[in-house]
Amino acid sequence: MQQPTSIDVHTHYVPRQWPDLRAVTDSDFEWPWLRIENERDAVVMFGTKDFRKIQSDAWDAEVRLADMDAAGVDIQVVSPTPAFFSYAAPADDAVKVSRIFNDLALEICAPAPERLLPFAQVPLQDIDAACAELDRCMALGHAGVEIGNHVGDRDLDDAQIVTFLQHCAAIGAPVFVHPWDMADSPRLQRWMAQWLTGMPAETHLSILALILGGTLDRVSSDLKLCFAHGGGSFAFWVGRMDNAWHRRPDLVATSEHPPSHYLSRFSVDSAVFEPNALRLLVDTMGTDNVMLGSDYPYPLGEQSAGSLIRSADFLDDQTRNKLLRGNAEQFLGLPSPVNEPSIAPLAATPR
Ligand code: CO
Repeated sequence: MQQPTSIDVHTHYVPRQWPDLRAVTDSDFEWPWLRIENERDAVVMFGTKDFRKIQSDAWDAEVRLADMDAAGVDIQVVSPTPAFFSYAAPADDAVKVSRIFNDLALEICAPAPERLLPFAQVPLQDIDAACAELDRCMALGHAGVEIGNHVGDRDLDDAQIVTFLQHCAAIGAPVFVHPWDMADSPRLQRWMAQWLTGMPAETHLSILALILGGTLDRVSSDLKLCFAHGGGSFAFWVGRMDNAWHRRPDLVATSEHPPSHYLSRFSVDSAVFEPNALRLLVDTMGTDNVMLGSDYPYPLGEQSAGSLIRSADFLDDQTRNKLLRGNAEQFLGLPSPVNEPSIAPLAATPR
């Protein structure tokens, strides 16, 4: 392979065999269930409503590994599908459900534990339980945690969520933040608008809360955070936020520094599809803070993981390698492969 192999930090799984959650929980919460169509196809259901068609690449390690080989992906971070977070469920039940999904994630990844790294889900509505479940999962072999970008009306500056993030920093668990539970209205029910405009806005709002809510002033700089979908609309609008921080300090200057000061404190994935958008991300976030993320295996993901980074003619080889692999090694705490061919640093990064 001519280009270095890669690490994909944004993929999802759905276990094919998960139990009837109504039978293992005490509440009448509307849990998802899986309608099996045949060996390859299934539909995630909420009540009588089809939520998403899925295929065996969601649960079958062999299928995933073949797709990874075809795309030049060495390692996938295998995260929950956000619809299963269940943060609105009673905490006791959410604990049980998290354990079920997290244990099934380990089973899915077991055939290739060096290549499929599960990220846990936690019952974030109960921070003690969330910390305990994360500890349990990290001891069992999970590599980090995926969280939703909010819990009801609580954002990433909520005191309880900050406590959880501080715990992640303390135990060295990387955190992948995924938008979910997008605002809804009839205007957002056309054209997948919740996904096309809601998700980028959700992620932008989360980063805003992380910064202006003072989370990054309070939490350890050891915290390793990555936001999905290129950080949503954040990078494009960081100048607008800085301007507001300076021009309306009475409302906005609630963090110690303007938003652009904190750009080195978190990462974003590369799932933005357009070379110009990737260039903006690299220019804004820095070459250390962008990582390959494809959103595999879902239809709104990059169909050949890493193709945008591999084909971006404005990236030098060193930067390309960081985006494809090196930054994710840092994020995940993985050693660099000893036999990796060395790439001579360039004198300057073309912009
Ligand atoms: Co995703």
